Amino acid sequence: MSPKSFLLDDRLHEYLLAHASPPDEIGAALIEETAALGGIAVMQIAPEQGALMALLAAAVGAREVVEVGTFTGYSALCLARALPPDGRLLCLDISEEWTSIGRRAWAAAGVDGKIELRLGPALESLRALPEVERFDLAFIDADKANYAGYYAELLPRVRRNGLILVDNVLWSGAVVDPARDDADTVAIRAFNDLVAADERVESTILTVADGLTVIRKR
Ligand SMILES: C[S@@+](CC[C@H](N)C(=O)[O-])C[C@H]1O[C@@H](n2cnc3c(N)ncnc32)[C@H](O)[C@@H]1O
Repeated sequence: MSPKSFLLDDRLHEYLLAHASPPDEIGAALIEETAALGGIAVMQIAPEQGALMALLAAAVGAREVVEVGTFTGYSALCLARALPPDGRLLCLDISEEWTSIGRRAWAAAGVDGKIELRLGPALESLRALPEVERFDLAFIDADKANYAGYYAELLPRVRRNGLILVDNVLWSGAVVDPARDDADTVAIRAFNDLVAADERVESTILTVADGLTVIRKR
C-alpha cells in the first residue's frame, strides 16, 4: 500500500503501519475492494488515520457522531466500531453507488444498526438538523469548496469539548505552494485560516496522512 502521507518515505510508512492497530479482516477487505475501483480509491482515509479517529472517538466517549463524506465507508466503519452499542453515526454523502459498498461492509461488521446514511447534498442535510449541541464528534471529508460551510453548520451542533476532525488540510503540500491556485487549494487555505482565527475553538493540524485538523469546541 502506498503512503497517503507525502511526508513519509516507504520504509517509515511500513514501520508506522506495523506499529499501529491494523485493520481487521473486514476493514482489510473493504480497503481491497475500494482499491479495485482504481484511482478514485485515493479518497479513502489511510488505515493509520482510521485507527487515530477510532481512538479519539473512544477517548471522548463519543455516542453521537456525524460524518460528512462517506465514500465506500471505511472511516464510518472505524468510527462506528468505536461507539458504544447504543451509539449513533450519521453519514452524509451524495453517492448511492459508493456508499452501497460501505453498507455491505457495515453489515458484515455488525455495526449497520448504529449507522444512518442520508443521501443528498451534505450542506442541506446538516441545515435540516435541529440546532442543538448533539454531536460528540464530527468528521469532515467531502467536497473542499464546502468545508467552511460544513464547519459553520457543525460547530453549533457539537457539544462543548466535542471534536471536529477535518481531512486533507495539507492537500499534499499544495497549501504552501504559491504555484497552486486551483479552487480546492484556495478553499482549503481559506478554511485553515478561518479555523486558526476562530476563538470559539482550539485546534491543531496533525501530519497524519494528508493532514488532519483536530478541533475542540471551547
Ligand atoms: C474523500 S471522499 C470520503 C472518504 C471517506 N471518508 C472514506 O474514508 O472512505 C468524499 C466523499 O464526499 C462525497 N461528496 C462530495 N460532495 C458532496 C456533497 N456536496 N454532499 C455530500 N457528499 C459529498 C463524495 O460522494 C465522496 O464519497
